[in-house]
Amino acid sequence: MAVKGDRLQGKVALISGSARGLGLEIGRLYAEQGAAGVMLSDILDDVGQAAADKLAGLGLPVVYQHLDVTSIADWDAAVARCASEFGHTPDVLVSNAYFFSLPPIMGEDPETWAKSIDVNLTGHYHGFRAVLPGMIERGKGSIVAISSTNGADVAFPSQASYQAAKAGVSSLIRHVATTHGPDGVRANSIHPGPMNTAAINSAPGFYEAVDAIAKSFPIGRIPEPEEVAWAAVYLGSDESSYTTGSKIVVDGGSSSSLLVARAALAPAHEMNKKA
Ligand SMILES: NC(=O)c1ccc[n+]([C@@H]2O[C@H](COP(=O)([O-])OP(=O)(O)OC[C@H]3O[C@@H](n4cnc5c(N)ncnc54)[C@H](O)[C@@H]3O)[C@@H](O)[C@H]2O)c1
Repeated sequence: MAVKGDRLQGKVALISGSARGLGLEIGRLYAEQGAAGVMLSDILDDVGQAAADKLAGLGLPVVYQHLDVTSIADWDAAVARCASEFGHTPDVLVSNAYFFSLPPIMGEDPETWAKSIDVNLTGHYHGFRAVLPGMIERGKGSIVAISSTNGADVAFPSQASYQAAKAGVSSLIRHVATTHGPDGVRANSIHPGPMNTAAINSAPGFYEAVDAIAKSFPIGRIPEPEEVAWAAVYLGSDESSYTTGSKIVVDGGSSSSLLVARAALAPAHEMNKKA
């Protein structure tokens, strides 16, 4: 038996974009923390099914469902299958899927912009609307959106649509928290910095570039996704019963540190060490 704790005891959770990366880590931790059921979902069906089979093979209540977050019909089917597999619609939605688009504003064509906004912003909107009726009916629920410091808190000279979408997601989370708090629904966002997942390994030289920048973070390295996933355990569990409309930044301190100044002040740090 692979259950290691009870922080998600009895919860039914639906996680989008969870065939791999952060979403899969969250699914694994939820199942290991006693969830009654975890639905992994993605458009990478072979990868997602294999991941779910592996966890189910350990005795964990994990299933896989095809879910393209841009499809309302897919969302409705996933929510309905949660009910048929695990007894009721999701207690927790982790809205995590994303489409990777790297260019800055002048390099991103209108078609790529539209696709990115469709997945990275509208996909969350569809998901929130799919799970809210069940949560409102039962008078409880937790929506956790995976946002990003990149866009929601700071800007880099790249990823125009991604940044706009992530700022929108964090804003929509506050809207849901404000509108549906009285219904017993909590909504929060997690803002990671760069993580060691497929995203930063997908473009040639991108991992090396991010790794070089990460050396100047207060915690001077790129994290493994599990280090971010624990924030979703907190937000999905009843431990966070008074937390809503909030963001949890899990970025090694990078967005609260003026990295340019840090690099410029490096000689002074050396002098301080010797003093
Ligand atoms: N990796 C990073 O450096 C980083 C930094 C900050 C925030 N984030 C955020 O973390 C979350 C997880 O990212 P990750 O790094 O694990 O990336 P990942 O690429 O490993 O996972 C994203 C998943 O989303 C799926 N997906 C893409 N389009 C989809 C669609 N239309 N419908 C359903 N699923 C779809 C992909 O197939 C993939 O499995 C994302 O929301 C991302 O924006 C990542």
